[in-house]
Amino acid sequence: SVKIVTIGGGSSYTPELIEGFIKRYDSLPVRELWLVDIPEGEEKLNIVGALAKRMVKEAGVPMEIHLTLNRQEALIDADFVTTQFRVGLLQARAKDERIPLKHGVIGQETNGPGGLFKGLRTIPVILDIVKDMETHCPDAWLINFTNPAGMVTEAIFRHSNWKKVVGLCNVPVGMKMGIAKALDVEPERVEVDFAGLNHMIYGLNIYLDGKSVTETVIEKITSGDSSITMQNISDLGWEPGFLKALNILPCPYHRYYYKTDEMLAEETKEASEKGTRAEVVQKLETELFELYKDVNLSKKPEQLEQRGGAYYSDAACNLIDSIYNDRGDVQPVNTLNKGAIGSISDDSAVEISSIITKNGPKPIAIGDLPVSVRGLVQQIKSFERVAAEAAVSGDYDKALLAMTINPLVPSDTVAKVILDEMLEAHKEHLPQF
Ligand code: NAD
Ligand code: G6P
Ligand code: MN
Ligand code: MN
Repeated sequence: SVKIVTIGGGSSYTPELIEGFIKRYDSLPVRELWLVDIPEGEEKLNIVGALAKRMVKEAGVPMEIHLTLNRQEALIDADFVTTQFRVGLLQARAKDERIPLKHGVIGQETNGPGGLFKGLRTIPVILDIVKDMETHCPDAWLINFTNPAGMVTEAIFRHSNWKKVVGLCNVPVGMKMGIAKALDVEPERVEVDFAGLNHMIYGLNIYLDGKSVTETVIEKITSGDSSITMQNISDLGWEPGFLKALNILPCPYHRYYYKTDEMLAEETKEASEKGTRAEVVQKLETELFELYKDVNLSKKPEQLEQRGGAYYSDAACNLIDSIYNDRGDVQPVNTLNKGAIGSISDDSAVEISSIITKNGPKPIAIGDLPVSVRGLVQQIKSFERVAAEAAVSGDYDKALLAMTINPLVPSDTVAKVILDEMLEAHKEHLPQF
């Protein structure tokens, strides 16, 4: 039987996970699930924990749910540790989104300066979690969702001795579902060869029942089909000629890089009209927790689909199930490149379709990315590596370097202005600086 520990258990996404474990109970018997949070999250933990207990009871599965603020105790003998925490909570995210905007730079929680600062806050915490795992559950798998998931996974591989880590994102699942919707078929009939980095992933080939439909899908999108979207990203259309020549499927986050001016204008407008995404999510979260408090509710409410991470439990539960049952199926995950993408170093994390067995993911080699996207992917990988070094060292100049080489930041001087303001705004959560 399986023991799972979820760090950041008070997240509004927790019912997704519970639903996923309930659905798969026959093949993945999760006997114990420990939800871990911090004092600031205790109230949320109690509300969502009580809902989790009602869900399990209603489903009639013998899963024990434990709620705790004691991470070390929870980790003892865990088989899988999933992480979904947010250092500094949504207030910190709101700063990540607002401060860059003031200086004409995209404010986003995983891209640009916002992503850098979320990484600077998160990486020391994840490295502490890994240390606790070395002591209390040295054989466990760490499944990380905590954003920026690519940079965080990179940091674990480079700055700890922990090897059993997989980074996860719901974007590839969302793309696959969007493709199925565009083609008006069941998602099970669609396969996609994914490769790239987290929030910088491309669908290289798309198949329907094993036959290539890449061009059909790209044509649908160029003629205005908007099935491939995420709740948290404005659905601005692509220039048809650009997408046709690109000839692979970009992810929704690529808009920040290929439509920088339009996305900046859009996010600036949204910030002044309805608030940044963090501010919108704060309201959504309050509503969700009001629903969760209802003692008659014992399933995941539909409103959760308004969050960008909707359906992420499918990715998580499928991954854990395939590792536990040694399935050998293909899933897109963040793992060591090991030569799978030619122009990325072997010891870097990439997000790529991988074969999942009890030994973890084995990335499927693609040769290399098309020359048109290779440089951008390498640049983002460089950014993630330098950012992780800054997070670990607390070196100011390294942080300035990371900020400046990010493609969304136009100059070293603008980088410094934003860096100084954000270091000050977030200093409570950046003890290393
Ligand atoms: P949230 O603000 O609800 O935070 C989740 C919980 O983490 C909170 O209850 C909070 O108290 C707790 N927390 C904060 N610091 C902690 C710490 N040091 N230890 C333990 N718990 C801590 O966040 P959310 O919106 O549910 O998102 C959670 C995380 O998952 C974020 O980092 C988000 O970016 C990420 N996310 C990733 C994906 C993906 O595709 N990989 C999808 C959705 C969300
Ligand atoms: C997408 C991304 C996640 C991100 C989320 C934000 O699903 O894959 O990495 O955290 O959106 O959603 P939110 O509802 O918090 O804006
Ligand atoms: Mn993601
Ligand atoms: Mn730059």
